Amino acid sequence: MKSSEAPSRMDRRGIYVLRLNHRSQRDKRVTTHLLLAARAFGANGAFYSGERDEKIEKSIKKANETWGGPFELEYVQDWKKTMKQWQQRNGEVIHLTMYGLAAQDVIGQIEKSPKDKLIVVGGAKVPGIVYGLADWNVSITLQPHSEISALSIFLHELHRGKELTKTFEKAKMKIVPQAKGKKVMELNNS
Ligand SMILES: C[S@@+](CC[C@H](N)C(=O)[O-])C[C@H]1O[C@@H](n2cnc3c(N)ncnc32)[C@H](O)[C@@H]1O
Repeated sequence: MKSSEAPSRMDRRGIYVLRLNHRSQRDKRVTTHLLLAARAFGANGAFYSGERDEKIEKSIKKANETWGGPFELEYVQDWKKTMKQWQQRNGEVIHLTMYGLAAQDVIGQIEKSPKDKLIVVGGAKVPGIVYGLADWNVSITLQPHSEISALSIFLHELHRGKELTKTFEKAKMKIVPQAKGKKVMELNNS
């Protein structure tokens, strides 16, 4: 887990999530769950801004170690710079907001574009500039809900469901699906 502001950290490819304005006390569970959803639903990594939170970084590291990766997490102080650098490197920024264009109307265009994607989700209050900076403002359902549900559905639609069978590298544990009860297999990746 890195926390520098050097431009080299933007050497990211694929699909990344930017979680704005994390507050370590109030958002601890939501941000952890958001990042776990990002990982499980096929994002390559995430940035978060607001308060730096080592507990969250440790939780994600542990999830990677146990259940596999790769999924990178990086703290950024200057989220505006992160968004702008992403675009300068020819990536596109997709802001999830209930006020945006309906996902079902634009997901096809977004999916077709070969550009790396930075998916921005808010927390308590999203500054107005985010709406202007984003290449896309996208709504899931045009109803209020949460960053976790919005991100999960967006990633699911973007991947057209292929993320459901994604394999994670170097996992120590793998779940064996059961109709009832729990079964977990230990793998030789330790
Ligand atoms: C719980 S909402 C907080 C919204 C808050 N009222 C604000 O000032 O932005 C947190 C985040 O969830 C996401 N979100 C909630 N409903 C959404 C929807 N229908 N479509 C897309 N994203 C949504 C947005 O990213 C939003 O910033």
